[in-house]
Amino acid sequence: MRIHILTLFPNMLSGPFSESIIKRAVDRGLVEIVIYNIRDYTSDRHHVVDDYPFGGGQGMVLKPEPISAAVESIKNEYEVSVILLTPQGRLFNQMVAEELAGYSEMILICGHYEGVDERVREHLVTDEISIGDYVLSGGELAAMVVVDAVVRQLPGALGAEEAVREDSHSSGLLEYPQYTRPRVFQGWEVPQVLLSGNHAEIARWRREQSIIRTLRRRPDLLERADLSREERMVLERMKRGEE
Ligand SMILES: C[S@@+](CC[C@H](N)C(=O)[O-])C[C@H]1O[C@@H](n2cnc3c(N)ncnc32)[C@H](O)[C@@H]1O
Repeated sequence: MRIHILTLFPNMLSGPFSESIIKRAVDRGLVEIVIYNIRDYTSDRHHVVDDYPFGGGQGMVLKPEPISAAVESIKNEYEVSVILLTPQGRLFNQMVAEELAGYSEMILICGHYEGVDERVREHLVTDEISIGDYVLSGGELAAMVVVDAVVRQLPGALGAEEAVREDSHSSGLLEYPQYTRPRVFQGWEVPQVLLSGNHAEIARWRREQSIIRTLRRRPDLLERADLSREERMVLERMKRGEE
């Protein structure tokens, strides 16, 4: 997979991509992350990337020409999805991350100031993504979120494939509680079942905890969750307070 990121602030992006899981995925050749400075695609002497909004109003708007030139230079080489990061886009979640993980090539455009000229959205962009219902100062943090969530989906990016499948949201449920050593910390004990060595019991307990946790914290997720008929019946009883 290759991810191209267009930004006015390339330095913001270099740190997170040279650490931890993303770095390992890059080193293993699972993903290539290419960062472009939008300013490098200006053609005027002063490298102007923004201008006042037509019709008046506060703030500056990113001009279409440099973004278009950057997108076209990438498109000349590759068949790409062009994704604008914007608070007006479709909401990013695990399903969208899994969808993007299937792409071989994508461009992420980071806006800034008041955003980008609308013609970029209308004519260059194929998808628009928001990472949440709040407004960031720029698309860079959103790009980092998207890249991280997508890259960890790539086979081989994590140590054990299992870890992705059991993560919160991957199965439509929140993950069960996790514990590590010591067995007792300040008098707080690890659930006995996890120390039993009985793998079937542990798996049953974890599944149950996932369902209970999702019911308590994010009942909205249960609609789409992958549950057996028996689990659905238990869930209905839990909702009625019978369990
Ligand atoms: C200050 S915001 C512009 C917001 C714009 N005036 C609006 O109301 O839609 C500047 C840039 O930050 C990025 N951004 C802000 N919030 C975001 C979010 N929730 N998800 C993705 N990108 C976001 C976008 O790239 C946007 O162009």
